[in-house]
Amino acid sequence: MGSGKYNAAAAIATSFFFVFLFCMPSNAQLSTSFYDQTCPDLQSTVKTQVRTSISAERRMAGSLIRLHFHDCFVQGCDASILLDDSPTIQSEKRAPPNNNSVRGYDVIDRAKTAVEKICPGVVSCADILSIAARDATVLAGGPSWTVKLGRRDSTTTNFAQASNGLPFFRDNLQKLIDDFANKGFTIREMVALSGAHSFGQAQCFTFRDRIYNNASDIDAGFASTRRRGCPSSGRDTKLAPLDLVTSTSFDNNYYKNIMQKKGLLETDQILLSGGSTDDIVRDYSKNPATFKSDFAAAMAKMSDLSPLTGQSGVIRRICSSLT
Ligand code: HEM
Ligand SMILES: *[C@@H]1O[C@H](CO)[C@@H](O)[C@H](O)[C@H]1NC(C)=O
Ligand SMILES: *[C@@H]1O[C@H](CO)[C@@H](O)[C@H](O)[C@H]1NC(C)=O
Repeated sequence: MGSGKYNAAAAIATSFFFVFLFCMPSNAQLSTSFYDQTCPDLQSTVKTQVRTSISAERRMAGSLIRLHFHDCFVQGCDASILLDDSPTIQSEKRAPPNNNSVRGYDVIDRAKTAVEKICPGVVSCADILSIAARDATVLAGGPSWTVKLGRRDSTTTNFAQASNGLPFFRDNLQKLIDDFANKGFTIREMVALSGAHSFGQAQCFTFRDRIYNNASDIDAGFASTRRRGCPSSGRDTKLAPLDLVTSTSFDNNYYKNIMQKKGLLETDQILLSGGSTDDIVRDYSKNPATFKSDFAAAMAKMSDLSPLTGQSGVIRRICSSLT
């Protein structure tokens, strides 16, 4: 009897605790005006660096948004991905989803150097990366969103989370849905965010199985074109555009490609495989404006994932190092 009552009370207390956790705003202290007094030229300074890097190499637009994504999904948008190996740090850069794949670190380093010149010790690497990802998307023709500021930089990395918590090119649909749900995203938001594969490139080893397995879910002409650049063995790092139509600009061709069985990765095509995401792909393929506004909203949400604020974390002087 007594223990039953105790259990009930404990259960109620536990559920209140979880409701409390759930309702806690994770971004309480991020704001659009955070650096208005301390670094008024921040936005234009970052944008100049991003523009220069994209003019030099158009692929960089995609690389920067992916860098931001892989930062935010691992212990929040805290620039943890930017830290190099050191005696106290196991770099996330070397985790399998990132190693020899994620790029754009040098662009963020240059933007940081430029920002340090005008307001030393004030702006976090995490905020610079967040602004850069948005600017890159806009410069590639994509939608804009408001980046709230005030993130601080981590003093730690999480190699295990970087290895296991990021989506993988062999994942099935349920795994993709779960990975994004774990970070608070709906299925629709997951499908919208996948539209970032509207620009950028992928290496042969990530799509080889798809183009050689003769599956009924790939367009035959597309498969044979892709096989020419990606032999059944060797040339693992040979690149192909994620969006075969407009590989350097941001638009909804990604979804149109999927409708024609011309998604490059299996995880792209799987979004149209008879499951809960089919209707969303169809919708985005027909309605570019809907896609763009959903994408922008989902990116704003991603860039608010578990930031360090207030006295937590630090402002790094050099993004790749704690000293
Ligand atoms: C849905 C789950 C996802 C999977 C399984 C996935 C997987 C991949 C893979 C395998 C590559 C090629 C990497 C390489 O060959 O080195 C890639 C590239 C890329 N991904 Fe994703 N991705 C996903 C979601 C996202 C999201 C949410 C974004 C951004 C919001 C994103 C942005 C990009 C971009 C822009 C590239 C090209 C980068 C470049 O050219 O440097 N991806 N992704
Ligand atoms: C990362 O890639 C390099 C090759 O560039 C390789 O030597 C190294 O072992 C890889 N790191 C990890 C942790 O797998
Ligand atoms: C599958 O694709 C390979 C590579 O192009 C081709 O040689 C083979 O004939 C195909 N098999 C079938 C059953 O279509």
